[in-house]
Order: sequence, then C-alpha cells, then structure tokens
Amino acid sequence: MRKLYIQTHGCQMNEYDSAKMFAVLHQSHQLIKTDDPAAADVLLLNSCSIREKAQEKVFSDLGRWRRFKEKNKQIIIGVGGCVASQEGELLLKRAPFVDLVFGPQTIHRLGEMLNEVLAQKNAATKQNKVIDISFTAIEKFDCLPEPCVIGPTASISIMEGCSKYCSFCIVPYVRGAEVSRSVDSVLTEAASLAQQGVKELTLLGQNVNDYCGLTHEGKYADLAFLLPYIAALPGISRLRFITSHPGSFSTRLINVFATVPSLTNHLHLPLQSGSDRILTAMKRGYTALEYKAKIRKLRQLRPDICISSDFIVGFPGESTADFDDTMKLISEIGFDHSFSFIYSPRPGTPATRLADTVPVNIKQQRLQLLQATIDQQGRAISEAMIGSQQTILVIDRAKLQQDEMIGRTTNNRLVRFKAKNATLIGQMLPVKITAVSRNSLLGELSDA
Ligand code: SAH
Ligand code: F3S
Repeated sequence: MRKLYIQTHGCQMNEYDSAKMFAVLHQSHQLIKTDDPAAADVLLLNSCSIREKAQEKVFSDLGRWRRFKEKNKQIIIGVGGCVASQEGELLLKRAPFVDLVFGPQTIHRLGEMLNEVLAQKNAATKQNKVIDISFTAIEKFDCLPEPCVIGPTASISIMEGCSKYCSFCIVPYVRGAEVSRSVDSVLTEAASLAQQGVKELTLLGQNVNDYCGLTHEGKYADLAFLLPYIAALPGISRLRFITSHPGSFSTRLINVFATVPSLTNHLHLPLQSGSDRILTAMKRGYTALEYKAKIRKLRQLRPDICISSDFIVGFPGESTADFDDTMKLISEIGFDHSFSFIYSPRPGTPATRLADTVPVNIKQQRLQLLQATIDQQGRAISEAMIGSQQTILVIDRAKLQQDEMIGRTTNNRLVRFKAKNATLIGQMLPVKITAVSRNSLLGELSDA
C-alpha cells in the first residue's frame, strides 16, 4: 500500500479539505496516511495565502520535499489550496519538481489527477504537469466520499468562497465567489457525522452568515433556517459556526441563540478594526457602533456569551487615533480571544494601492498591546469561572499528563481533569472548575 503525507497550512476550511483529500485518495488508490514525510510516496501540500508569511511556508516545505525526490524519482508531489489557486503554472516554474497543482474546489478530482500523473510517469515520455485550479461551483461536495470521523467533534463545510471583497483579502480571488451547498446535502453529511458519534459540530465557511442554500422545495434557506434542523439531529449536543461576517450577522440569526440551546456560548465575529475610517477603507460594510449594537442584542439573549475576533493591525493609514478606537472597542466588548496579525499586502487586492505609512516598529507595538489586552481579558473571564459548575464535552486524553483527560466548555475553554477512562470520550459531563493554568482550566468531575 502506498503512503500519503498531507501538510496543511491555514484555516479550518483547509483542515476540512485535507481530510477530504485523504478520503478521496484512500477510496481511489487505497493510499494510507503517514505522519512521516520521508516515508511517503505521495506528498500533498494544502497551502494558505492569507498573509505573505503563510505563503512563504509553501516554498520552505517544498524545498525539503525536493530532497526526497532527488533520492527517489517515483515520489509524487502535489500542491493544493490557495497558493496553488493563486500561482497556477507559475508555481511549477518556481518548483519544477512538483507534479500536480490543484485548487480548493477540485479536490474531488484528485484520484483522476493522480492517475494522469502515474500514466505519464509510466509512459516515460517528457512529462506534462497536471493542473486543475478551476472553480467548479458546488460540484465538489456532490463528488466527495462519505465523511468518516474518529472522536466526538467534527466540522462540516456548508459553503465555498467569498463574495465580500474586503479590500485587504485574497480569499475571493483564490477560493472563488460564494456558493452554498444545498440544505439536504449539508443535513445528510451532518446526520452521517452524528451517527458516527459526533456530539459537537462546527459549520464552516469563509462567511457562513451569508449561507444561502437551496431547500428541496427550491426555496433559499439562510443560516438561521439551517441551524435548528442540524441541532435537531439525534446526538448533536453542540453547534458552532465559523467564520461570521458582522455585516451579515442578522437579527434573525441572533434570535436563533435564544431558540437553539445547543448553539455554544461562544461566537467568533471578526471585527478587524474599531475605527470607522479604517473599516470603510477595508470595505467591511459596518461601523463600530453597528457591531456593538449587534453584540448588545446578542447579550440580551445570552448574557455570558464569550466573543472572540480577528484583528488587522497597521492597515495602511492607521493613525494613533484609529488604533485607540480599536483598543476602546476591545475593552467595551470584552473580547476573550483573538487571531490578530499585522496587515500583509496581498497581490491583486485593492488595499495594495493605499500608501502604507505606519512604521514597522509601531505596528509591532500596537499588535503586542492589542494581544496582551485581549489575553488579559480572556484570563479574567477564565478566573471568574473558578468555583463554577460547567458541562464539558470530553474530547481526548491529555497529551502530557497520563492520568488526565480534556474536555471543552461551551465557551470554548479546554478543561483538564483527573480521569483515565477512555469510555468518557464523547460524554457531556459536569465539572467544577478549580484553577486556571496557562492554556486551559483545571477541573474536577462532579457527581452528576
Ligand atoms: N471571513 C472572515 C475572514 C477570513 S480570513 C471575515 O469575515 O472577516 C481570516 C482572517 O485573516 C481575517 O479575519 C483577517 O483578520 C486576516 N487577514 C485576511 N487578509 C489579511 C491580510 N492581507 N493581512 C493580515 N491579515 C489578514
Ligand atoms: Fe476575506 Fe472579507 Fe471574505 S476578510 S474571506 S473577503 S469576508
């Protein structure tokens, strides 16, 4: 049996796609997974181009893989994901030892593409490279194998691409325009996951708030329509969705937090900046006040919901006053976690035409201050949980401590507790929180 190694960079959509890439090649070529790239016959890189640093990682990984191929010409190397979509043939010019280039929407064709590569290798003529980075709309989801999971948590992609065109973002160019899966297609996959023992399901998309899928009656359904149907599937105890765009975070959707208790007490709602001037330059389509109003409405229904966010620091023209506006909103909302980065110009995006006036050391200082403030806020929320009873979904044994297991709270915190019993995995259990450690909470199982 041949061995497949997949290196995944970037977001949860890529994680999801990588799992599907394995499923496709396991079905078509009976490939088995290896964690050792040096032992693999087929090496695939699922790349990310959201920031320049992420993109550079592609070429450092490929540099290492090239040496494997110098030793063994039979090895097959493929690059997929957003860099593949962005660079296409250019990628082959820079890395001629790559055999196969595929985009985020052509992973269902991987089996055929691998056959083409193998046929060319066997023919021993001059090889043409195999490239397919087309956008096939939603065909991908109709052609992927049945999901197969181990463990009580899983993700399900409900849409592809994005049509928001925020001025800094490369996603709409590399993943294509927004397309939603049909309601039935999502429900079928979700039901199959639930049957396999999944308790916590995360709905994925670049902008799930704009989900617009066909029902079998030929009508269009939004996310607010979809969520209660998924929540009603037997076994599903918790539901999350990511990523949300604040502009499309509708009152209808907010109200679902009141009617669907399995929606978790945690929402990731990327703000990017707290300055209206910068939000306009980013083409985000909402103001700081509108963002605050939506959170206020949500907190009327879920007073203790935790909110996390994405931020871009040092966007072109960001003044001290703009940054202060961001910091003010951070404390007003009380964000408990963030994914925050310094702005990275992406080729072909409109923001690259704006003059980047903020000095690098200022950008770094701002980022540090923002991250330290949010970390502190998150820790304060965790400390306030000490002594409380929480329900956790037990997800695994602890990696380092052999006598401990880990679970997750509804507000997205990991809890370590003393237990060794593997049958607890997948159970929802009551724990009392006893302490806060660096990356998790500590707890004790309560007598239910
Ligand atoms: N759909 C999400 C964002 C997906 S991209 C939304 O609605 O906002 C994930 C995150 O990457 C973004 O939220 C943004 O914070 C960050 N990002 C995107 N482009 C970037 C760039 N050019 N420089 C720095 N960070 C960027
Ligand atoms: Fe990017 Fe904006 Fe879409 S950040 S993914 S263009 S919502």
